Amino acid sequence: MRLVATMGLSEGVELAKPIYNDKGKILIQKNIILTKAMIKRLIELNVSYVYIKDDLSDDIVIHSPIPEELKIESIQMIKSIFDSYKDKDFKNQSFLIDKSSEKMATLIDNMMRQIQQNEEAISILSDIFICDDYLFHHSVNVSIYSIALANQLQWSRKQIQQLGLGAILHDVGKVFLPDEILKKAGKLTDQEFEMMKTHTELGFEFLRSSSEIPLLVAHCAYQHHERLNGSGYPRGIINDEIHAFGKVLGIADVFDAMTTDRVYRKAMLPHEALETLYAGSGTLFDAEMVRLFRSSIAVYPNGVTVQLSDNRHAIVIRQNNAMYNRPVVRVISEGGQSVPPYDLDLNKHLDVMITGYIL
Ligand SMILES: [Fe+2]
Repeated sequence: MRLVATMGLSEGVELAKPIYNDKGKILIQKNIILTKAMIKRLIELNVSYVYIKDDLSDDIVIHSPIPEELKIESIQMIKSIFDSYKDKDFKNQSFLIDKSSEKMATLIDNMMRQIQQNEEAISILSDIFICDDYLFHHSVNVSIYSIALANQLQWSRKQIQQLGLGAILHDVGKVFLPDEILKKAGKLTDQEFEMMKTHTELGFEFLRSSSEIPLLVAHCAYQHHERLNGSGYPRGIINDEIHAFGKVLGIADVFDAMTTDRVYRKAMLPHEALETLYAGSGTLFDAEMVRLFRSSIAVYPNGVTVQLSDNRHAIVIRQNNAMYNRPVVRVISEGGQSVPPYDLDLNKHLDVMITGYIL
């Protein structure tokens, strides 16, 4: 299977992966032949890419960092936990979070196991969801990215468990903000943005009122928007005033936000989002963490079509773990002419580079 832009689809192509909504319900089943009306609907629903089946890509395997069922289960669990906090005066509701902390710990353990088993670089592009409830989906993705980066940092199991819990709960303060702000399609006004920023403090206050949640987890909510040079919020703390967990979460949070479709803009591809992280490396984000993060992410995920520096087009078929930007590819055209497909290991052809995506 391979990934193509929904905009460029023509009717008659076969879908290779089902399309889910965030309640885990299948909206379009795999193996369905797409009609014009279905393609139009997908574009309306802001689905930028879909996986299709064809002869060129029959044998390409797309790995998800965690199985789709676990992801759906996680999203549903977070949704029900967050919903139970909503519309409450959180100062007296710490028992709610005490009650859910065990469930969340089991979820993190499951995720850790899956991510540690998965030896390939992580690609979340492989999950195509139509997402009404961005917050829950985002919490799961940030947990996956944070755990992957913490593995690279060789943190202990206990540290990763705490970080994972901090990742699931980093935006919990948002449940105390009005929907008009959270789901606003356009740009926030200055005043609305000031209100949005308070989710960090609200989350911190809420989490630290719990006797079951470690204080460090509460600090994940407090610090994930802080930046090394002091340009973050809410406190504008700098460098090592920011806890390592806050630094990891800042990277995972920004990367997921950039690579996810939102109502007001299209998703960036992983290499573009990584460039943005690199632009802030050392000033906004910890340079070593950005470097390690890059090596845990599939910059060119399996199934995407890329342009090579010598004007060949090719589909990425497999990752080279040591060389994040040199996967094995299948050449499908040369100088604009289709050719019988053949495979090329870019790690063995260092004179050839990937210069961009073709989607
Ligand atoms: Fe946030």
